[in-house]
Amino acid sequence: MPQLTWPTKNIQPVLPADLKTTATIFPGGHGYPNSQPESHLFLGDNEPIMTALLPDYEGRLGLIYADPPFLTNKKYPVRIGRGEDSRNPQDWQLTDGYADHWTGIEAYLDFLYPRLVLMYRLLAPNGTLYLHLDWHADAYARILLDELFGRDRLLNELVWVYHGPSPIRRAFNRKHDTILVYTKGADYTFNTDAVREPYNPNTVKTFAASPKAGFGKVPDLERGKVPEDWWYFPVVARMHKERTGYPTQKPEGLIKRILLASSNPGDIVADFFCGSGTFPAMAANLGRKFLASDVTWRAVHTTRTRLIEEKSPFAMVYDAVTSSEVDSIPLKVDISGRSVTIETTVDLDYWEIDPDYDGDIFQSAAQARRPNRSAHIPLTLTLNDFPKRAHIRGVTVTGKPIEWKK
Ligand SMILES: C[S@@+](CC[C@H](N)C(=O)[O-])C[C@H]1O[C@@H](n2cnc3c(N)ncnc32)[C@H](O)[C@@H]1O
Repeated sequence: MPQLTWPTKNIQPVLPADLKTTATIFPGGHGYPNSQPESHLFLGDNEPIMTALLPDYEGRLGLIYADPPFLTNKKYPVRIGRGEDSRNPQDWQLTDGYADHWTGIEAYLDFLYPRLVLMYRLLAPNGTLYLHLDWHADAYARILLDELFGRDRLLNELVWVYHGPSPIRRAFNRKHDTILVYTKGADYTFNTDAVREPYNPNTVKTFAASPKAGFGKVPDLERGKVPEDWWYFPVVARMHKERTGYPTQKPEGLIKRILLASSNPGDIVADFFCGSGTFPAMAANLGRKFLASDVTWRAVHTTRTRLIEEKSPFAMVYDAVTSSEVDSIPLKVDISGRSVTIETTVDLDYWEIDPDYDGDIFQSAAQARRPNRSAHIPLTLTLNDFPKRAHIRGVTVTGKPIEWKK
């Protein structure tokens, strides 16, 4: 079988990350303090992280969604502030998001290939990988995936179509991404009925008028159809409620369809390039356990603020090489029974309380987040029990981690 080679192609294993659990988050207090989270959000480079996960997770993940940088050679800033609505530009600013810069295709493949190898190893025998790319690198990636999975394990080449403005004048507007779907084995999870959609009303009308319309094949109009391998979902735009301000955020509808088709409740699923957290948030929402990682603190913070909307506890785990500077801030804290109220001059994006902090792992029993496009974060949180050794942490709207200790 033809293979892709380049001078620096290599899969020398890297050293595993030194993973440290820094917090356990119990969204809205659910499960606090005794339940052991089975979902994990990691901060750090995913190559050493996945290497560190091999002893516990090799051959166990039911589904991996991967949405890495696409080889665009662009920078992707994040929109932060007190309101992401671009009608009020005084309320937001742009800051570093993530970069997709490479010295060439070889450097990009040096990055992608060993990570695909690790994902292959982590997948369960009935597991599926969805690799989300576009025209910049999809052809190269497909040959690499053929090599790892076998050519006959390509389940689908999905095309996500969308529209939007573009400055392009001397080519057709590039408005689709490609999602390569490979299964590890011939016996894989695919929940057809979970992703059926209604037939087009014109099809329904046609068959109502003449059952012979389909050359004798009458579709089950009630049950709906299996979606085609091209999907239309609008890109996450300014006015969408789900928009976080994190760049290249993928639509919840697209990610939900992937999760519903290729995993079951209780499965462990993963996204090692999680960005704004669409995949782990939808996974938690659908009752899957997740492993998610990103190399930028802002992505992990954004993901956390989405995950606290769901009920499943999760652990925050840092690769010890990533530094996380935390500033102390002046905070006036009023504890009255089970209620904790804070007063501060700093604009907050997020804050949380550990009611009984032991100085080691932060056990977050109550959280508040600034709603998207709003300046108004709740400043009172009510705990399920009386706090003993309250400790408060937070993040400012500009993304600075802060903490207050009694
Ligand atoms: C295309 S974005 C993912 C967007 C995400 N699917 C969403 O819905 O928001 C790619 C992400 O990969 C992350 N990334 C790049 N290199 C990484 C690495 N070595 N380890 C972990 N994450 C990485 C970037 O920080 C960025 O957030």
